[in-house]
Amino acid sequence: MRQISFAALLAAGAILLAAAVDPHVAIPARQMGMKQVGRTFKGINDQLHAAAPDAKALKEGTEQLDKLAKQVPGWFPAGSGPDSGVKTSAKASIWTEPADFHAKAVALAAATHALAEGAKHSGDPAVLTPLVRQVGGACKACHTTYKTQDS
Ligand code: HEC
Repeated sequence: MRQISFAALLAAGAILLAAAVDPHVAIPARQMGMKQVGRTFKGINDQLHAAAPDAKALKEGTEQLDKLAKQVPGWFPAGSGPDSGVKTSAKASIWTEPADFHAKAVALAAATHALAEGAKHSGDPAVLTPLVRQVGGACKACHTTYKTQDS
């Protein structure tokens, strides 16, 4: 009995592993995550350009962006690249240059953390705009190298 259940566990594990790198799941999930990053970042920018920026909305938005940024490395499992046959703007070099790609994800998380820390203490655009620019630079640095620009 024990052996059978062990075999069943192994089989269940294999199914879980296969699901983890199913590009039909991983790629749309990543693109949804990135869309949420984009919407959240736009919300922050819109607040900073508003006549009267809402400090609470900025605090919440920047916290949300920081949480999302921490998830980015997990959105790129092996097997979810352009060779998978699923439409993606992610370049194959993400998986051949993993250290550099990871460094760019870390740079994003550092910038979003600094922004969220800033927004904890201030809703002043003069304080937050330079921090937002750092975040924007981190998005661009990764997209320029690792995202095809046709979409
Ligand atoms: C570490 C690399 C990296 C960083 C940093 C990064 N992105 Fe992306 N982003 C990508 C890649 C790769 C894709 C393409 C994903 C795909 O098509 O599978 C993408 C796609 C997107 C998309 C398109 C999603 C879709 O499919 O419609 C948006 C919007 C986006 N990113 C916004 C941002 C914003 C805003 C930031 C900064 C706050 C950011 N990204 C930071 C790598 C990154």
